[in-house]
Amino acid sequence: MNKILYISSEAYPLIKTGGLADVAGSLPAALLKNSQDVRLLLPAYPEVLKNIHRSKTIASTSYYNLAVDIIETRLPGTNVIVWLVDCPSVFNRPGGPYTDGHGQPWHDNALRFAIFCHVAVDIALDNYSLTWKPDVVHCNDWQSGLVPALLSLHKKRPATIFTIHNLAYQGVFDHKTFTELKLPAELWHMDGVEYYNQFSFIKGGLAYADKITTVSPCYAKEILQPEYGYGLDGLLNHRKKDLLGIINGIDEKQWNPGTDKHLAQNYNRRSLNKKSINKTELQKELLLPVDASIPMIGMVSRLVEQKGLDIILQSLPTLLTKPLQIVILGTGETHFEIQLTEWVKHHPEKFKVIIGYSESLAHQIEAASDLYLMPSTFEPCGLNQLYSLRYGTLPIATPVGGLADTVIDANKENIKKGTANGFILKNKTALSLLETIQRALTFYQEPAIWRQLQITAMSGDFSWQGSAKHYISLYDKFHVKKKGKASGI
Ligand code: ADP
Ligand code: GLC
Repeated sequence: MNKILYISSEAYPLIKTGGLADVAGSLPAALLKNSQDVRLLLPAYPEVLKNIHRSKTIASTSYYNLAVDIIETRLPGTNVIVWLVDCPSVFNRPGGPYTDGHGQPWHDNALRFAIFCHVAVDIALDNYSLTWKPDVVHCNDWQSGLVPALLSLHKKRPATIFTIHNLAYQGVFDHKTFTELKLPAELWHMDGVEYYNQFSFIKGGLAYADKITTVSPCYAKEILQPEYGYGLDGLLNHRKKDLLGIINGIDEKQWNPGTDKHLAQNYNRRSLNKKSINKTELQKELLLPVDASIPMIGMVSRLVEQKGLDIILQSLPTLLTKPLQIVILGTGETHFEIQLTEWVKHHPEKFKVIIGYSESLAHQIEAASDLYLMPSTFEPCGLNQLYSLRYGTLPIATPVGGLADTVIDANKENIKKGTANGFILKNKTALSLLETIQRALTFYQEPAIWRQLQITAMSGDFSWQGSAKHYISLYDKFHVKKKGKASGI
């Protein structure tokens, strides 16, 4: 049994902007189920405070003269203990966890997440006398990057793991910010948190954590190359022996077509013919022509370059001449929102774009669609293709990161072997996307093969069970090392 402090800047169902929340909302529960003693540390944003049931303050302190309470609660629907960093001066404000109401990063993000990291470090060193000291501190993404760096300055400290969910977001600020935050000067060098004379939170994790993980084996290899390394491939190559990829799992209670409360009609592998009721219900709701036989392509996504919006927009003129319907739910960069909405005006009978965030609609689109669009330029893991597979909705994906690890192309050989569960693009181009969709549409006309692909997709094991075990064996290794050291080995 290991004591694990799991640090995340979001966790479903308390607060979510993307896949990190899904992971932080389900992996700790899977660890707990496997007899690990895990506590989740999260900032107390207003939405979080609104979503918790019972709570108590277990410590009070201050950083940078700002009052901080540590509040204990449980992750709704689980027994996972959550510790909230309640610093109203920086966290209690309307807007998102990282950005204001206009989508601009909060001006004081460095201060906000430095406070978050200081709390984590003080818990890790038992400075609040909480009678619980972690063996392992498990950090996620740049917001917790300073934790391994600050802990490295202490001799008696827990082991640290830093998980990369997305290397494109690094938390880079200027040197003045580093000085103003009064961070230890010994961290400021090119093998530390300095990044081309700037101050990088993520480097605190990548340079100082004992182990680095990322969320799929393929992405773990990709980030060693300049194309995917976002300027950090050099450092990652240097740390290669401590880097590994562990694929994300999904919360099978939340994402189960057999029991999903958001659906008009539940279904499973044995009642797959009922799936299309979700399509006709969604068609009615979105005022699309109601016809179960029209292939529907769905997408639920942050509308950013990473998700392949460029090639989607380039292929729309051709795509919208085909007999299909496309439904996209998302929010993101304004220019993508505008361009997509513009196309709806030309083809309202085929194309629906819902700009916004809706958990319920996300589930409905997964269930209603026949195909799921995910032509990402890079994808550390991706959860939507996993949800799609579980819902018998075949992904159309680029062969990158977690997509390459989980989507198996419906080529002749894979169909024969019975392993095919989706469609892979040859290249990251609009032409390749169009070819792949055309190939998928041809299969759609062959019900027996289509059914086989759906059954294979739905039979895959995307639970946390296997991946949680991988994390635990990583935690266990630290344990063995520590024991070894203590006994003088
Ligand atoms: P990323 O974390 O890069 O955004 P993932 O595929 O790992 O991509 O996870 C995205 C998560 O966010 C999924 O649970 C997806 O359903 C959800 N999501 C994204 N955009 C929306 C939206 N507009 N409404 C509801 N859920 C969304
Ligand atoms: C990031 C990645 C996504 C991954 C998610 C959870 O947001 O973009 O690919 O699934 O984190 O690990």
